[in-house]
Amino acid sequence: MSGIASAQYAVIGGTGVYDASLLENPKEHNIDTKYGQATMTIGTYKNKRIAFMPRHGKGHSVPPHQVNYKANMMALYQIGVKHIFSTAAVGSMRLALPHGVLVIVDQFLDFTKSRPNTFFEDGQGVAHVDMTDPYCKHLRHHLAATARAISLPVSYGGTYVCTEGPRFETPAEIRMFAQLGGDVVGMTSVPEVVLAKELGMCYATVAMVTNFCAGMTGSALTHQEVLDVMAQNVHHLRNLFFEAFASIKDECDCQCSTAAGVM
Ligand code: HPA
Repeated sequence: MSGIASAQYAVIGGTGVYDASLLENPKEHNIDTKYGQATMTIGTYKNKRIAFMPRHGKGHSVPPHQVNYKANMMALYQIGVKHIFSTAAVGSMRLALPHGVLVIVDQFLDFTKSRPNTFFEDGQGVAHVDMTDPYCKHLRHHLAATARAISLPVSYGGTYVCTEGPRFETPAEIRMFAQLGGDVVGMTSVPEVVLAKELGMCYATVAMVTNFCAGMTGSALTHQEVLDVMAQNVHHLRNLFFEAFASIKDECDCQCSTAAGVM
């Protein structure tokens, strides 16, 4: 670890997004929190301090249900991060959202089962965080406006179903999720989005569709196809985020910073 760890902005890179190469003077930092240690690379882009955190650790070594979400989010909070863009590989339950499509999700359905999912336990107080806008509406608008400005097609809005994983879903589960209003399925947004809100940080996710969900095409799903589609399209995410950072304004017309009402 070297240099002082501080940043106002962060990217949490999901599956297939491991590269912080647009940052100038990148330095790796291990940040200690009371929940464990988190590793990130901090550098500069257009005079803005940006932290890049690979959600699954170096070399994608941590599966989705074992990511230390509390350490990751607390580490970003401790270094001063206020705005977070995250990426997520997702399966699509909608024929109108084929692979390669970017979805700026705005709601989630939580089907996780066994993850530490709040900072408000073990004597840390009682809070019921508002989830009316789980993904920051200001950051979502900004990402959509940036995408328009660079002529990058995105699907604005969508419901992310978060499963426990690490297995993929059954076709029966997918039929149920689709009937409940889900659009895409992944394994990581919850509790990450919730913990960001508890800490008062603005957080938005751009999900990339890597496959149609189980039972929709007649062929089995593989992690390799997820990686392949991410690799083919990851440059779109990188362009979108760095363009968005170039023009981001610090003032937000959102309620993220006060959603938990404490801390
Ligand atoms: N299901 C769950 N998570 C995923 C999928 C999927 O089909 N594709 C990429 N991440």
